Amino acid sequence: MKNNFDNIFENFEENNIFKNKAVLQSKYQPEEIPYRDEQIKQIALILGPTLRGEKPSNLFLYGKTGTGKTISIQKVKDELIKRTNPNSGFSLRLEYLNCKLKKIADTEYRILAELISKLGGEVPATGLPTQAVYDRFVNLIDKERQLIVLILDEVDQTVKKISSDFLYNLTRLNSELSKSQISIECCSARGNCKVCCFCSKRTWRREKGVGFVKSCRRTFRKRWEQKDFIKTY
Ligand SMILES: Nc1ncnc2c1ncn2[C@@H]1O[C@H](COP(=O)(O)OP(=O)(O)OP(=O)(O)O)[C@@H](O)[C@H]1O
Ligand SMILES: [Mg+2]
Repeated sequence: MKNNFDNIFENFEENNIFKNKAVLQSKYQPEEIPYRDEQIKQIALILGPTLRGEKPSNLFLYGKTGTGKTISIQKVKDELIKRTNPNSGFSLRLEYLNCKLKKIADTEYRILAELISKLGGEVPATGLPTQAVYDRFVNLIDKERQLIVLILDEVDQTVKKISSDFLYNLTRLNSELSKSQISIECCSARGNCKVCCFCSKRTWRREKGVGFVKSCRRTFRKRWEQKDFIKTY
């Protein structure tokens, strides 16, 4: 005889709405990214020299929300990681940080602490002077010959809260590094915010921008059809 649980759970056993519900999760990465070939190619051409240990240009991805900035740069990052050569004589570290995440973007200290922990170091959650955290960061990355590429997503959030000096400080760190190099790649939904003003400064003269335009409705429909996650309407 069926009990209440049978009635509830049998609906879950047969999933007749979604072919693959994982596609609705924010961390889902589609295999193919239609309509972004040109942008992905540009990003790959800019970051490609990292495979030879060359510091790439600073990159600024801008475009409206939902236009594929994050998945595009993540895709290039993953493809680069697949191709890193452990016998090349240098380490290539590509680190992604979403600056919008609460408790990360609020202060320069927190962002640095997060980066330090991603790179395998430790720093107390509070208490040190910011300069001391910078020193720890520099010591940590300059221990060995390595190229660090920091992808700062939603960077406009940080600039809004802290100021663009933070980006300036990060890009200037190269002058303190002897073995390693660091490169900053930014993504922002606002092309006209302070980030942009910052990127036009002298430090970022070699900066390259890749624009993402909002796709038209037809493009979007095709994109979702391709995702193929709805079995029945
Ligand atoms: N060309 C595409 N093909 C398939 N899915 C896409 C494409 N572009 C974006 N998406 C999907 O749309 C959603 C939003 O994409 P994404 O997070 O990369 O946008 P974004 O430009 O970084 O937006 P935001 O400015 O809000 O961070 C994700 O679920 C992503 O998988
Ligand atoms: Mg994004």
